[in-house]
Amino acid sequence: MANRDIPINHYEHKSNYTIDTRDLKPDVFEDYSATDWRKLTWKEVGRPYKVDKWAEGKKKWEEENGQHLPVKEGWKFFNYHFHQLFIKDITSSKAKNRNKLLKSLLKLNIPGAWETLHEQLQLTIWNKVHRVEDAIWDPRGKRSLFKDLDVKKPRILFLGAADGYEAMQLAALYPGAEIVLVDYDDFCKTDRFGKFPSAYPFLGIDTSTGHPKVWYKEDMHINFVVDDIRNLKYGKEFDIVVSIGLIEHFPDEYKPDAFEFHRRFLKPGGYAIMTTPRNQLRSRAFYNIMSDYMNYGYRELMDIHQMGLYAHENGFQILRAGFIKAHNGLICKPG
Ligand SMILES: C[S@@+](CC[C@H](N)C(=O)[O-])C[C@H]1O[C@@H](n2cnc3c(N)ncnc32)[C@H](O)[C@@H]1O
Repeated sequence: MANRDIPINHYEHKSNYTIDTRDLKPDVFEDYSATDWRKLTWKEVGRPYKVDKWAEGKKKWEEENGQHLPVKEGWKFFNYHFHQLFIKDITSSKAKNRNKLLKSLLKLNIPGAWETLHEQLQLTIWNKVHRVEDAIWDPRGKRSLFKDLDVKKPRILFLGAADGYEAMQLAALYPGAEIVLVDYDDFCKTDRFGKFPSAYPFLGIDTSTGHPKVWYKEDMHINFVVDDIRNLKYGKEFDIVVSIGLIEHFPDEYKPDAFEFHRRFLKPGGYAIMTTPRNQLRSRAFYNIMSDYMNYGYRELMDIHQMGLYAHENGFQILRAGFIKAHNGLICKPG
């Protein structure tokens, strides 16, 4: 199949990601929008779970440098390591590892075999979470969360954009979008976004016909800005400000700042879209077993009630709330 030739309703596992241009239920979006956020209390909903299994790389850096790993350096480690997972040919990596394991066992190299077994477990989990279940990108869940926004040719600001995936999904749903991706780790510009597969299909719409259409990264108008979110000088000029997995990295005393970044650059009537990873058993297991790839800084796992309560307390009107495979999601307007 030619690169830019993926039809609608196509489902296929590639070596390192899944193509899914289906638009089907179930397993798309659990809707909690009817929640009366004013009635929730922290006593009732409890506090988020804090992930405290750190990457060996973080511990080593701190031992060598006699100080805590600075937040930005932590993100550089995270982005580099997380990206290695996205570019892995999972099936062949697993086969290679099986041979390595056998060789270690034949040589009675027990520590070597143990290490390889751990790598194999990480690959198996990544294969299931990203390639089989498609729970990281989760295009169907994201499309359900992002649907029916009252915007045309929106200007979209993505805070902590990493690979920029969700802004591209938004641009497929709302064609003619102008996207600004912001991340202070330049590796995101060069690699995570820079090398995002140009053949990956985003199911959206053709506004001229009203019919579904598959869009690709190259069709979109995207500008990547390498900068700290706190330095941005934009006015209230965006129709959508989005973050995916950002709020949960701010301890409670900094949560108001995190929410303020989503309000500051929005046009009147604009939408703030935020997601955070869910506090579920499988996510806890994921961050535990994948700690060397993921855990270089502060991270909470929360449920949709906790996330909604944070947004409500920080002055947002919640228009849509719910969860998809791995994340909670909110569509809000500044109250
Ligand atoms: C957890 S990631 C977002 C999850 C993302 N969807 C992914 O695929 O990794 C958060 C991103 O925000 C960026 N980031 C965190 N704090 C930032 C800041 N103050 N300014 C700019 N970017 C920031 C990090 O570099 C990282 O790429």
